[in-house]
Amino acid sequence: MMLDPNLAIVSPPPPSPWPRFSEPLKLAVLASGHGSNLEAIATAITQGDLHAHIQVVIYNNPKAKVAERAERLGLPKVLLNHRHYPSREALDQAIIQTVQAHGANWVIMAGWMRCVTQVLIDAFPGQVLNIHPSLLPSFPGIHATEQALAAGVKLSGCTVHHVELKVDSGPIIIQAVVPVLPGDTADSLQARIQTQEHRIYPAAIALAASSKATESQGT
Ligand code: GRF
Repeated sequence: MMLDPNLAIVSPPPPSPWPRFSEPLKLAVLASGHGSNLEAIATAITQGDLHAHIQVVIYNNPKAKVAERAERLGLPKVLLNHRHYPSREALDQAIIQTVQAHGANWVIMAGWMRCVTQVLIDAFPGQVLNIHPSLLPSFPGIHATEQALAAGVKLSGCTVHHVELKVDSGPIIIQAVVPVLPGDTADSLQARIQTQEHRIYPAAIALAASSKATESQGT
């Protein structure tokens, strides 16, 4: 029997109904590449699912496609070119200032290809999220899809997690599982995973914010 390529399991399931917060979540999205996850988050907001506002898009590579995408979506964007900062901490300080200057307090790493430091993590406790194209803790790092294929895994997927110092680690918020099919290439598997990334990232933001709201009610 052939596996359905569109089969995916998402756990926990996306919220239904989506939560409303006392005011829209104020997001800063950090991206280095194409920005398809940025667009998925923006779409979830305009559809009325994710109760949030993207205050600013921060990108680090002048040629990143995400800049054009932010422009098309009418989102404010700021280039923080990492080559212009003497250390990772200095870049993170600039990120903090930019996030705060735009009134955001959720840091959403969507293909942000820089290692962050404790400086950024401590500035927004519990509110720095990342997405990764594997079922963490398997295959952290930048070659996740290739490594999953090379290992011969039969299931792969994606993970949204709270960010800790170690790359691609931290408490997991949500995961989606997809099949690895015979004949898959890194590109075909990555495409299948990305379809699920676009489903789970908006859901993860809502789930993380709901947990945070529940925690603060309990204190
Ligand atoms: C995603 O696959 C994400 O998991 C990884 O980088 C990619 C970003 O894609 N961290 P895009 O720029 O959102 O299209």
